[in-house]
Amino acid sequence: MTAMVEEHFEHTLEKDQRIEPRDWVPEGYRKTMIRMMAQHAHSEIIGMQPEGNWITRAPSLRRKAILLAKVQDEAGHGLYLYSATETLGADRTDLTERLIDGKQKYSSIFNYPTLTFADVGVIGWLVDGAAICNQVPLCRSSYGPYARAMIRICKEESFHQRQGYELLMTMMKGTQAQRDMVQDAVNRWWWPSLMMFGPPDTDSPNTAQSMAWRIKRHTNDELRQRFVDMTVPQADILGVTLPDPDLRWNAERGHYDFGEVDWAEFKQVVSGNGPCNAQRVEHRRRAHEDGAWVREAAAAHAAKRQGSIA
Ligand code: ACO
Repeated sequence: MTAMVEEHFEHTLEKDQRIEPRDWVPEGYRKTMIRMMAQHAHSEIIGMQPEGNWITRAPSLRRKAILLAKVQDEAGHGLYLYSATETLGADRTDLTERLIDGKQKYSSIFNYPTLTFADVGVIGWLVDGAAICNQVPLCRSSYGPYARAMIRICKEESFHQRQGYELLMTMMKGTQAQRDMVQDAVNRWWWPSLMMFGPPDTDSPNTAQSMAWRIKRHTNDELRQRFVDMTVPQADILGVTLPDPDLRWNAERGHYDFGEVDWAEFKQVVSGNGPCNAQRVEHRRRAHEDGAWVREAAAAHAAKRQGSIA
């Protein structure tokens, strides 16, 4: 029996088909998928905070409506991804508690502050751009519910990226002060955006197994390079510089060379010591506690309905 289900799992991967919730999977596969999907869900939920910070101060009704829609999308992505983890037996409440107890990670990028409205544009352009670069290949990830979630999420991320770029284009056509604001935001977000792709391949404990299981389709360094290659021409069109003196086209490789990411900073941020880690987690904890009465009311309502149906 075990041999048969193992064979089914291996065949499914070999044929590049999707693993579905009822299929047998090795325990390591299940744990990896829950870890990755939960971290992704947490990132979407925590990721609402840096931009949410600007909703009340958006410079026009139009910008406010766009920003509100975008932050709501992030909430939707988070809930969608928590549902995907539940297909593998994870418990959403447990995952939320692990997040606020610091036992599960979320993306390093959301631990940086949003100092000006230009940050909203740069998050759309660079952060959502990096997210798309990382997530489009995950639409072919071997776990069906995750792969399908990625298709929808990537479509929305693409809208987010465009709104960011359009916002920056508008600011770059404005005053010198606005252009300076954009450049300052780019300077602050460029390196953290490169960190989003994870540690270098030589220091990435999960990549080899996740590639073998076809969960990941490319390594962290491959996707980081793809992002740099994609972004440099966009920066030129926008009229900003990227804060890397080593950034230059390498005709031999057919790619841009770029400088070394500050991996010590990355480790600090991932281990909870970034500029906003404590604030982000505390805010999430408060929201969870403040929402307790809603969860209780929903559960009571569901129990009452159940009773009346039976
Ligand atoms: N921020 C925080 N933690 C990170 C980051 C990061 N940018 N990159 C890697 N890590 C963590 C990994 O989760 C792993 O932690 P763990 O094993 O203790 O759980 C550890 O660092 C080592 O990294 P890898 O071995 O490279 O881990 P993995 O193979 O999972 O690759 C990656 C990391 C690329 C982030 C992968 O998990 C992934 O593609 N996830 C799905 C996309 C995602 O979560 N995006 C979130 C941000 S996008 C957004 O919300 C807009």
